[in-house]
Amino acid sequence: MNHEKVLVLDFGGQYNQLIARRVRDLGVYCELKPCSMTIEEIRKFSPIGIIFTGGPNSVYDEHSPHISKEVFDLGIPVLGICYGAQLIAHTLNGKVEHAEKGEYGKREFSFAKECLLSEGIPQTSVCWMSHTDLISEIPAGFEVLASTPTCPVTLFGNEDKRVYGVQFHPEVVHSEYGNDLLKNFLYRVCRAAGDWTMKNFVGEQVALLKEKLGNKKVLCAMSGGVDSAVAATLVHKAVGENLICVFVDHGLLRKGEADEVVNVFKYGLKMNLIKADASEIFLQKLKGADDPEKKRKIIGSLFIKVFEEEAKKIGAVDFLVQGTIYPDVIESGKDKSDVIKSHHNVGGLPSVVDFKEIIEPLRDLFKDEVRKVGTELGLPDSIVYRQPFPGPGLAIRIMGEITKEKLATLREADFIFREEIKNAGLSREIWQYFAVLTNCKTVGVQGDARTYENVIALRAVTSVDAMTADWARIPYDVLEKVSTRITNEVRHANKIVYDITSKPPSTIEWE
Ligand code: XMP
Repeated sequence: MNHEKVLVLDFGGQYNQLIARRVRDLGVYCELKPCSMTIEEIRKFSPIGIIFTGGPNSVYDEHSPHISKEVFDLGIPVLGICYGAQLIAHTLNGKVEHAEKGEYGKREFSFAKECLLSEGIPQTSVCWMSHTDLISEIPAGFEVLASTPTCPVTLFGNEDKRVYGVQFHPEVVHSEYGNDLLKNFLYRVCRAAGDWTMKNFVGEQVALLKEKLGNKKVLCAMSGGVDSAVAATLVHKAVGENLICVFVDHGLLRKGEADEVVNVFKYGLKMNLIKADASEIFLQKLKGADDPEKKRKIIGSLFIKVFEEEAKKIGAVDFLVQGTIYPDVIESGKDKSDVIKSHHNVGGLPSVVDFKEIIEPLRDLFKDEVRKVGTELGLPDSIVYRQPFPGPGLAIRIMGEITKEKLATLREADFIFREEIKNAGLSREIWQYFAVLTNCKTVGVQGDARTYENVIALRAVTSVDAMTADWARIPYDVLEKVSTRITNEVRHANKIVYDITSKPPSTIEWE
């Protein structure tokens, strides 16, 4: 792909992926790279602009990341954000000072003069600050372009050299005109053409895949999740029936899901999809297992075994498709923190399949871009906006041993919850929402009779990346409706509770 691109240099701030996503959303391809990139590497990358992200350090810390002065001699526009802005000041002999008190939250800032970055932005507007250090002296040749009452150097720049530093975070939604500022940087300062659209992406990828895959056989493990679905559909557009998708139904999916995968891909898109119905064997192997880790391990290894058996029937293939996306690529370069739960996904597959090469057509895309590509390819919203669903499925939403009866109860309760969230128009703003079958029974009264039945817990969280999450403030009347419907319509449930813990200290799933 020969796109114009922006380089986002990562200095360790918490919003770094967000900056990259905003730039892409504005129609310019960009990549997030470690700040240790050398000048030679930057030159080779050949960006139309460079953004320095924020970061947790102070420019004076012994181990804080720095950048060579030469970056300003490349003739490439630079925008430094927060730490990035301080780094520009520091590197070019300005001054950064440690403030007594940090500045966090919304502030009003005003432009001191019009500049390339100010177009379309009111003279005074709200921005989002999050810093302790302050720029107290700007480098020679620069001028102050905007200030707040407490932060004299909120925006500074050298318009000839096209180098700017901004103390606030234009990438977060609380900065009212932040997106406009980024847009001005891309289109007025870097003079971008804006050639990054998902329509272009689909066209280019299909052409590339056609050329690469030719008449060869391609295999894909389809889970029904967004990433593998979009990856498979893209490849299908390029190679048609030479793509073989294997969908292992472990019997732990939500109500209607397995049928939907078959309907959309096999009958709708006419894909060569093989469904391996393994629900009985999964249930059998899970019998007696009530420890969460044990359940995960059983499911993970059995999944691979079933897939392997199907793959053997197909024989050797040339390529294996995987739905790896950009955040996975960025993350894999970093240390993984403690394993809290052993995650199961299809990452363990390559070793059991006889193939020559893995292809990952989505490895440059963020999740929201993957969804746009899915829509572009004609996939229904139910697949494209499907909430994240764990590989082990409902097995980790049923506390204790899994049985057919428990699965049936949970499926119905979960379906009602999902339906009511959708009816209330909340499905896009909640990250995940689902029901859990606890292993606790309570006494109830239904009709005139005493019951002793299960407690169903409802879990709904907001999040941006599942690393942290907050419980969703669902309106009481929606919760009431869900509770009434579940206790009326679902057998073996007589009490509904709502989970009000955030992550941490809790996790999103219950097991
Ligand atoms: P937790 O429960 O750890 O979940 O807060 C974080 C996110 O990961 C999902 N999850 C999984 N996804 N395989 C997956 O592919 C798994 O084994 C698994 N366990 C949890 C969970 O739904 C949430 O989005």
